[in-house]
Amino acid sequence: MSVFIQFLHLTTLLPGVLSVSGNWEEWWTYDGISGPDFWGLLNPEWSLCNKGKRQSPIDIKPNHLLYDPFLRPIHIDDQKISGILENNGHSIVFRTTQSDKHRLTDSSRIFNEVDPVRGTPINISSGPLSYSYSFDSLYIHFGRTDSHGSEHRIDGTPFPAELQIIGYNSDLYRNSSEASRKTSGLVGVAVLIQIGDNPNLELRHLTSMAHLIRFKGQNTTVKSLSIRELIPQLETYITYEGSMTVPACSETVTWIVMNSPIFMTKQQLFSLRKMMQGDADSPKAPLGNNFRPTTKINHRVVRTNIDFKRKQGAECPSLKTNMHYQVNSRHLRT
Ligand SMILES: *[C@@H]1O[C@H](CO)[C@@H](O)[C@H](O)[C@H]1NC(C)=O
Ligand SMILES: *[C@@H]1O[C@H](CO)[C@@H](O)[C@H](O)[C@H]1NC(C)=O
Ligand SMILES: *[C@@H]1O[C@H](CO)[C@@H](O)[C@H](O)[C@H]1NC(C)=O
Repeated sequence: MSVFIQFLHLTTLLPGVLSVSGNWEEWWTYDGISGPDFWGLLNPEWSLCNKGKRQSPIDIKPNHLLYDPFLRPIHIDDQKISGILENNGHSIVFRTTQSDKHRLTDSSRIFNEVDPVRGTPINISSGPLSYSYSFDSLYIHFGRTDSHGSEHRIDGTPFPAELQIIGYNSDLYRNSSEASRKTSGLVGVAVLIQIGDNPNLELRHLTSMAHLIRFKGQNTTVKSLSIRELIPQLETYITYEGSMTVPACSETVTWIVMNSPIFMTKQQLFSLRKMMQGDADSPKAPLGNNFRPTTKINHRVVRTNIDFKRKQGAECPSLKTNMHYQVNSRHLRT
């Protein structure tokens, strides 16, 4: 039955596929015959999407976490940065135009040179990380309805949206495309997004521009965004070794899923839901539901520094009842 449904999707996708004529980068999607089940078959370079055993996202099972009190707080520089917000047909992407500090240097030169005009990159380090990472880009995954949208799940429950902050290992590599293929190349800081009346202001700064990037390929300039302020607290989180959640699904990402959600209003979410996968001439389907389904954990260790027992008290050492994420809150059920 599902094969039949996917076949129908194929016929609706074909015009788009033909128009980009063999540009692999372009025509993967989140459903149908070019959807997540088939990413690994579309392009031999994406075979990890199907064969990989350390993939992302995952469903975080609260009673399968390893408590590790030595996990430090995350460090993220708090200077404001500017960049470009774009609808790339798969997601909402913010990319910094701050200096890529290695861009100026050739391979024989010192690594830590900074472009005086474009400013310093945002440093993401500490936490479970052995290296320093430079902020590269930020993605927003969201649902067409409130019942799903996030990539990571907590105890089987998705959230309406998820913010992903991606950095590359600037101790070892020169840029994110190189790092994405190499050992310890990337860090992904995931912040789950819940619906609420007290929205995160930096996130609102981004979503207020959704109407300017309704169609694929549209972009707008963002000035003065604080990556640090997108994250409510840097102390407690869940961490595991996984992959990029888009092709090529490279298994080079240390994921850090923060233990506190941020909030977005219903109106913000509605404005995102008006965004489309295609351009103005051929808008195709809505951009929403741009999340990859969860992948198998395959015996990976998923660590946390959330001390459930201490916070909960002796009577009730249950992980579930003490989660910061209110998986049973009414927001998820509407
Ligand atoms: C990033 O921050 C950490 C912690 O403050 C520091 O040790 C490291 O040198 C910084 N790295 C860069 C490239 O600025
Ligand atoms: C990234 O770095 C690699 C290796 O130094 C280089 O060949 C490539 O052109 C760089 N890519 C971008 C987009 O800067
Ligand atoms: C942003 O959009 C303009 C106008 O369509 C285009 O010329 C430019 O290349 C885009 N910039 C980026 C970084 O995508």
